[in-house]
Amino acid sequence: MRFFWIFVIFGWLFPTATALGNEVLNALKEDYRRPASIPFPKSNPYTAERVALGKLLFFDPRLSASQNMSCVHCHNPSFGWEMPTAKTVGSADMPLDRHSPTLLNLAWTEALFWDGRADSLETQVAGPLEAPKEMNMLFPDLVARLQSIKGYRSLFEKAYPGEGITQQTIEKAIATFERTLVSGPAPFDLWVEGDDSALTEEAKRGFDLFNGKAQCSNCHMGWNLTDNLFHDIGLPTNDPGRAGVTGDSDDQSAFKTPGLRNIAQRAPYMHNGSLATLSAVIDHYEAGGVQRDSVSAMMEPFTLSAQEQADLEAFLESLTGDDPPVTLPVLPQ
Ligand code: HEC
Ligand code: HEC
Repeated sequence: MRFFWIFVIFGWLFPTATALGNEVLNALKEDYRRPASIPFPKSNPYTAERVALGKLLFFDPRLSASQNMSCVHCHNPSFGWEMPTAKTVGSADMPLDRHSPTLLNLAWTEALFWDGRADSLETQVAGPLEAPKEMNMLFPDLVARLQSIKGYRSLFEKAYPGEGITQQTIEKAIATFERTLVSGPAPFDLWVEGDDSALTEEAKRGFDLFNGKAQCSNCHMGWNLTDNLFHDIGLPTNDPGRAGVTGDSDDQSAFKTPGLRNIAQRAPYMHNGSLATLSAVIDHYEAGGVQRDSVSAMMEPFTLSAQEQADLEAFLESLTGDDPPVTLPVLPQ
C-alpha cells in the first residue's frame, strides 16, 4: 500500500503525467520479483526421490476406487494444471460443484481450495481422494492396494526410509511433487529483471493499469499475483464460498484470490468457470459485479477505453511462463 501514497503524491504533483509514471513503475517491479527458491516445510523436506514418487502417485489411476481417475485428470499440465471446462466430472461421472483450480505455485499458499478449508498440501490430498464424486478411495484400501505393488514398496522405502506405505507418506509424497510445480520465467519476469525489450509497450501500459486505474493489485499482488486472502468479487453465484468454512456472513461468496501466472492458458475462469475469456473477466471488473452486502469494498466500477482493455489483457498474457514440457511417468508394477 505504500505505493498508493506515492501514486497519490505523484498524481498531485504531475496531474498530466499518464497514470503511474516510469519511476513508480520501476519501483513497483521490486514487489513482483520471483523468489529464488521453493519453500519446503521442515516436517516434509525436499528430496528428489519424494518428488519422483509423488509424481507417480499423481498420475496413477489406481489411486481411485474404480481405477479410472488420477489427480492429473482434473489438473492437466496442458491446461495450466487445471481443466478447460467450467465443471469437471469425477470418477462417478458426475459434475463437481466448482471449477478445478491450477496447482501452480501452491508451495507459497497456505489455505487450499477455493474456500481455504485445507491448511496444507499434505492435508489437502485426502479431499479429492476420498470424495465420492472424485476418486472415491478410502485410505485403508489405498494403502493395501499400493502395498501389493512391488515397485511402489521400494520407491516408498527410498523416499521415506523406514516409514512404509501409509496415509502420511502418500500425502507427503504428493505434496512434495506439487510444491515443485512452479510456473516458469515469463516475459514479465525478464522485464522485472531489467530487460526493457521483454515486454511490449501494450503490456507495459497494462501493468500500469493493473496497479493503477484498474486497481487489480489491491488483491492480485506479489510475484504470484495473489494476496492469498478471500474476497467476494460479485459474481452471480449461490455458492457460500468462505462462509461455508467460517460461518461468517461477511465471508458469503468470498473465494481465494487465485494467482495469475500462466492465466492465458487457464480458461474458463473463476470458482465456477463462469467467465470464458480474459476480456470477459475485465468486463466483469469494470462493471463491478452484482451488488450485495458481502461484496468487497475494493470492487469499485471503472471504465477502460478499448485500447486500455487490450493493454490490460496484453499484460495478463505476458505472465505465461516458458514451462518445460511435462514427461509422462512409467507407472510401477
Ligand atoms: C474430478 C476432478 C478432480 C480430481 C480427480 C482431483 N481434483 Fe484437485 N481439485 C478439483 C476441484 C474441483 C478443486 C476445487 C474444489 C474446491 O475448492 O472446493 C480442486 C482443488 C485442488 C487443490 C487446491 C488448489 C488451490 O488452489 O487451493 C489441490 C492442491 C488439488 N486439488 C490437488 C489434487 C490432488 C493431489 C489430487 C489427486 C489425489 C486431485 N486434486 C484430484 C478437482 C479434482
Ligand atoms: C477485491 C479483490 C480483487 C480485485 C480488486 C481483483 N481481483 Fe481478480 N480475483 C479475486 C478473487 C477473489 C478471484 C476469484 C473469485 C471467484 O472465483 O469467485 C479473482 C479471480 C480472477 C481471475 C480468474 C483466475 C482464475 O484462476 O480463474 C482473473 C483473471 C482475475 N481475477 C484478474 C483480475 C484483474 C485483471 C483485476 C483488475 C481489473 C482483478 N482481478 C481485480 C480478487 C480480486
